[in-house]
Amino acid sequence: MRRGAAQLLAAGGAGRRVRSAARPAHGAAPAQGGPRARPDLVLFKDDAGQWGLLDRDCPHRGADLAFGRHEGDGVRCPFHGWKFDATGRCLETPAEPTGSKLCDRVRQRSYPVLEKSGVLFAWLGEEGKAPPFPAGFDCFAAPSTHTFAFKGLWHCNWLQAFEVGIDPAHPSFLHRFLQDEALDSIGENAAGKQFRSASAGDFGGEKWPMTRIMREFHQPEISFEARPRGLRLQALRPMTDDLTHVRVTSAIFPQTFVIPLSETLTITQIHLPVDDTHTYWYSIFTSFAGPVDKEAMRNQRLQFISLPDYVPNSGRHNNWGFNADEQRSQTYLGMGEEDINVHDQWAVESMGAIRDRTREHRARATRSSWPTVGCC
Ligand code: FES
Ligand SMILES: [Fe+2]
Repeated sequence: MRRGAAQLLAAGGAGRRVRSAARPAHGAAPAQGGPRARPDLVLFKDDAGQWGLLDRDCPHRGADLAFGRHEGDGVRCPFHGWKFDATGRCLETPAEPTGSKLCDRVRQRSYPVLEKSGVLFAWLGEEGKAPPFPAGFDCFAAPSTHTFAFKGLWHCNWLQAFEVGIDPAHPSFLHRFLQDEALDSIGENAAGKQFRSASAGDFGGEKWPMTRIMREFHQPEISFEARPRGLRLQALRPMTDDLTHVRVTSAIFPQTFVIPLSETLTITQIHLPVDDTHTYWYSIFTSFAGPVDKEAMRNQRLQFISLPDYVPNSGRHNNWGFNADEQRSQTYLGMGEEDINVHDQWAVESMGAIRDRTREHRARATRSSWPTVGCC
């Protein structure tokens, strides 16, 4: 995050749906390039480290506080100099006569913000009614040294993104690498070379990368059970008569899933609707082994997106970076050798921003999406 005035972030108001619960706050000030979410909130961090998320229109005459001056203890509207702290309290109305009490009668609506594992969550619902933060997520219980968060913008409906993520069959194809790398050569690219680290367990005394298991055992037996807040999906891949690979995906409705990437790493992914055809995904990597190298992971991710709106460099405009030579020799899809996020991006965007599900054919291997599309 940039300092000074640019430290202000306009958290894109994402419409009624996002206003009803604690969701990641997103956006950049002022939005450039990406889709224009309703620009109704401004986010900043004061010098004491407190986040302030305020209504974006100045309560004086409505000028845009996302262009305000960051003055350490608050944000000052450049129109007539009114200043507000992180709680929305009015600190100064400098054009008013000395001794004016106007400030005491003015308050900008502020929204509580929680920082969890590198992601900001805001309660945009009724004032004073913020519920407790949801419990039970490893990614939020883990020490910050063991998590890494990032995000990206996809041009699709949020439900499409959710369904692709929980689909247990697709790693065998969409994320297939035609050759395996030595397990110790993944290096610092754990964020891009997902699935190429070792699975739990061993096969004949040998550790296998997850991608090899997915590739060689590509007909998973999929089952799911309803849980209080979603589904637990189980994908069984029998490897021998007495050895079965078990992969469990947790789907937490309406927009979150947790998937295992390797023996020691999971991803929790949250899909935040910007509007009907744009979605921000938030991924939180959680290490169950040692600390993660946040800087290396962040640098890896920054190669593939453009700030400030986290727009992927690949997309429909450049065929998502498709390369026929790569498809012949390296990846099943022909893109994403260094960044498998582009695999999922292609899957969710290439079908169209809002896919007409009535034209599809059900199949056993993709039954995980049936309940979410409401057709069974
Ligand atoms: S509109 Fe903001 S101080 Fe006047
Ligand atoms: Fe995927």
